[in-house]
Amino acid sequence: GYIHEIKGLSEVEEIIKEFLNLKNVIVVSGDVEEDPSIMKEIGKAAANFAKSHIHSGDIIAVTGGSTVKSVIDNFPKVNSIKDVLVVPARGGMGKKVETQANTLSAKLAEKLNGTYKMLHVPENLSDEILETLVQQKEIQEIIECIHKANILIYGIGRAQQMGMKRGLSQKQLQQLNELGAVGEAFGCYFDKDSNVVWITPTLGININDINNLNLHIAVAAGKNKVEAILSTKFGNKNGVLVTDEGAALRLVEHI
Ligand code: F6P
Repeated sequence: GYIHEIKGLSEVEEIIKEFLNLKNVIVVSGDVEEDPSIMKEIGKAAANFAKSHIHSGDIIAVTGGSTVKSVIDNFPKVNSIKDVLVVPARGGMGKKVETQANTLSAKLAEKLNGTYKMLHVPENLSDEILETLVQQKEIQEIIECIHKANILIYGIGRAQQMGMKRGLSQKQLQQLNELGAVGEAFGCYFDKDSNVVWITPTLGININDINNLNLHIAVAAGKNKVEAILSTKFGNKNGVLVTDEGAALRLVEHI
């Protein structure tokens, strides 16, 4: 198909942008699965894009994960904007502190001379406990900020992998599979037609917030994430995708 006619990465970007109906697509040359140093380039590209779209007074929400970590690690120090607040997009702490949304929020805030808030909510809490937590004043305040966020920077993962990471049981993983879940982003699991088929019970950003965001920047690379990336496409004009050439070329094959 397309692949033979393609000349440069900017054309690949254009094709993906049109197909996914996004605001912008940035493809970094190289393949992160063959060369892990490409992760840094993805981080830089996303950071530079984000930087030029952040204004004083913005509220930025970030998710965890190694790709978002690369964005924050490669974020330049910015002195020209004021009063930015950075918050984790949702609860859930994972196992590694370095890639947690709370940690990444604090780091990004520092680069922007801004402030941050943290949300300490472990994975897999019962609805009962979550309901009790929501009633706490401090939690309510941060949830409010999260819902007011105008920029979101988030990672995308494969459904089964993320389910396992979040400690779902064998039975739940099987259910995920039966529901056709292929991709995961900000706690939502999507099937191949971009329906949300499962939601991680937690606090924070939800699928309805996404449509209200001025800008949401997805960072996800690697050929193995292509189905996941496609599943999370919202056809939302405010969406941006930053990925690598490896994933982009395979993605174009799906078109
Ligand atoms: O757990 C946070 C999260 O952003 C998930 O929503 C996403 O699936 C995953 O991390 C991506 O992680 P990585 O960038 O390490 O592949």
